[in-house]
Amino acid sequence: RRILLVNGPNLNLLGTREPEIYGDDTLADVEALVVRVAGDFGLDVRAVQSNHEGVLIDVIHAAREDCAAIVINPGAFTHTSIALRDALTGVALPVAEVHISNVHAREPFRHHSYISDIADCVVVGCGVQGYEFAVRRLAAIIAG
Ligand code: DQA
Repeated sequence: RRILLVNGPNLNLLGTREPEIYGDDTLADVEALVVRVAGDFGLDVRAVQSNHEGVLIDVIHAAREDCAAIVINPGAFTHTSIALRDALTGVALPVAEVHISNVHAREPFRHHSYISDIADCVVVGCGVQGYEFAVRRLAAIIAG
């Protein structure tokens, strides 16, 4: 069984982008963390990062074929994209939404998410450790 890890726009800059908000870990560190934690549950990982909304949607659609659950940090698309939301509801896989920063303590435009009410779990403000929590929760969900 496999987990799809999706990171949205600007998360390729992790480690260098606003480290006081997002920390020092890179995207490669995040992907390695998810691979390690998923491996503890016997789960494989497909990790994708894109700055393009349509690419993210295509990757989510493809997950229907061979993934059991999705961990997604949609970046700023969280606050804008009905299309991303519709892709996630369309494939009907368990979804964990992750935000490294505490979006609720930031600008008001980050307080609303188009994803949270259709997600199976939401992890906010736990730094990159939030990805670990998300994997653990999804592993429990797909184990039944
Ligand atoms: C983010 C929060 C979003 O508001 C922001 O646009 C990001 C990263 C986070 O991980 O904290 O790109 O999703």
